[in-house]
Amino acid sequence: MSIALVLLAAGKGTRMDSDIPKVLHKIGGAPLLHHAMLSASALEPERIIVVTGHGAEEVEAAARAFDADVVTVRQDVQHGTAHAVAQAKEALSDFAGDVIILYGDTPFISTETLDALLSKRSTHDVVVLGFNAADPGRYGRLIMDGTTLSRIVEFKDASPEERAITLCNSGVICADASHLFDLIDAVDANNASGEYYLTDIVAIAHDRGLKTTAITCDEAETLGINSRAELAAAETVFQHRTRAAMLENGVQMQAPDTVYFSFDTVIGRDAEIDPHVVFAPGVTVESNARIRAFSHLEGAHVSRDATVGPYARLRPGAELAEHVHIGNFVEIKNARIDEGAKVNHLSYVGDAEIGARTNIGAGTITCNYDGVMKHKTTIGQNSFIGSNTMLVAPVNVGNDAMTATSTTVTKDVPDGAMAIARTEQINKKGFARKLFSILRAKKAKQAKD
Ligand code: UD1
Ligand code: CA
Repeated sequence: MSIALVLLAAGKGTRMDSDIPKVLHKIGGAPLLHHAMLSASALEPERIIVVTGHGAEEVEAAARAFDADVVTVRQDVQHGTAHAVAQAKEALSDFAGDVIILYGDTPFISTETLDALLSKRSTHDVVVLGFNAADPGRYGRLIMDGTTLSRIVEFKDASPEERAITLCNSGVICADASHLFDLIDAVDANNASGEYYLTDIVAIAHDRGLKTTAITCDEAETLGINSRAELAAAETVFQHRTRAAMLENGVQMQAPDTVYFSFDTVIGRDAEIDPHVVFAPGVTVESNARIRAFSHLEGAHVSRDATVGPYARLRPGAELAEHVHIGNFVEIKNARIDEGAKVNHLSYVGDAEIGARTNIGAGTITCNYDGVMKHKTTIGQNSFIGSNTMLVAPVNVGNDAMTATSTTVTKDVPDGAMAIARTEQINKKGFARKLFSILRAKKAKQAKD
C-alpha cells in the first residue's frame, strides 16, 4: 500500500511571539519540521506534501533541505486544519493509497506509532491517533462509542461533560486518499472558531457509515509546541531521551544531565563524555575518545583515543585523527589534525593541516584571515611549533621543522629547518632598579599633592 504524508505547517504560531515561523524553531539543533518528517520518513512514503503559509519561503526551503523531493503547497490564509489539508488535494489527485496527516509542530511521534496507525487502517476507514492526557487543557476530545470513534469535539465547542474527557486528539489522522478529500469537502465552519476543522471529518465519516476508530500512544509522543515554554519543555524531553539512548549504547557519562546533544550526534562505545559538554549538529566521536568538561563541538569528527578539552571548541570541519590531543582554550576550525598531533594550550588553528605527531606550542595562532579572504596553513609531520608562533597564511611548514618561540612565520619553512623571526634581546644593566626608583618617587609626590 502506498503512503503519502501531509504535513501541516502554515500556522503562525502566535504564542511563540517570534519572527521565525513556528515549525522552524529548533529542538536538538533541528527544526521542529524535520523532527516531524524524520520518524514518518521511515515509512518510506511515496510522496511528502508540506502545507506552508506563514514564512512560506523559509519553511519550503527547510522542507526541501530535509528531502529534495518534498512537494510544497501554499495555504495563503489559514482557515483551519481541514482547509490546510484541502490544499494538498491537487498534489495528490493522481495518488492512490493511505494519507497520514501530521503537524509540523508535533515533533515526537514515533515510527512505531505510525506503523500501528497504518495497521489499524487495514480494518478501518479513518484512524485517529489519540492519547490519554494528564492535563487535557485545550486539546480536542475523542468521543468513543465502544471501539468506534463517533466524533471529535474541539475544546472551544465542548460541553463541560465533554471537557471532562481525558482521551485527546493528537492531530494525526490516517485515511484513504479518496475518502479523505471527499470528507474534507463536506466540512463546514459552523463552530466557535469559524474554522474548517479537520477533526470534523470523523463525525461525517461515521454518519456515512464508514468505520472510524482511534489508537493511542504515550502522551510524551504527542507533545505539540505552541509556546517558548513548550519548546523548552520539548528540548528537555529530547535531551533526556538522547542521554538515555547514549548510555544504553555504551557511552560513558558521569553527569549525563549536563551534556547536550543534537539530533544527529554519533558517539562510539566507551567514549567518555565529561560534564557540561555541548554537541551542536554534525558531530561524530569514535570509541574510546574522551571529551573533557566544558567543551563545545560542532561539525567535527573525533577519532578513536583522541582527547578534547577541557574548555575546547571544535568548529565545523575540525577533523581529528587517532590519538590527537586538543587541550584547554583551543579552537579548531576547518582543520585536519593528523595522528598523534597535539595542540594543548590556548591556540587557534583554522583552515589548516597539521601532520602526524607534530606539537603545536601554547598560544599558537594560524592567522588565516586577512580581513577579506581566508588562507591555508600546512604543517608537516614531527614538527615543533614554538609557543606564541604566529603563522601568517598562506604558509607551509615542512616535516621535522621547528619555529622558535614568538616567531611570526611569513615565509615557508623547509623540511628540517628552524624558523626564528623576533627582535634580538638586549639586557640593559641596572636599568630596572633605576626605573623602579624614578616611578616610586613620582607616585609618592602625587600622593602628597
Ligand atoms: C488541533 C486539533 C485538536 C488537537 C490539537 C493537537 C483541529 C481543529 N484541532 O488543535 O483537536 O487536539 O491540534 O495539537 O484540528 N495549521 C495550518 N493551517 C491552518 C490551521 C492550522 O497549517 O489553517 C497547522 C498549524 O501550523 C499546526 C497544526 O496545523 O501545525 C495544528 O494547528 P493548531 O492551530 O495548532 O491546532 P490546535 O488548535 O492546537
Ligand atoms: Ca496546536
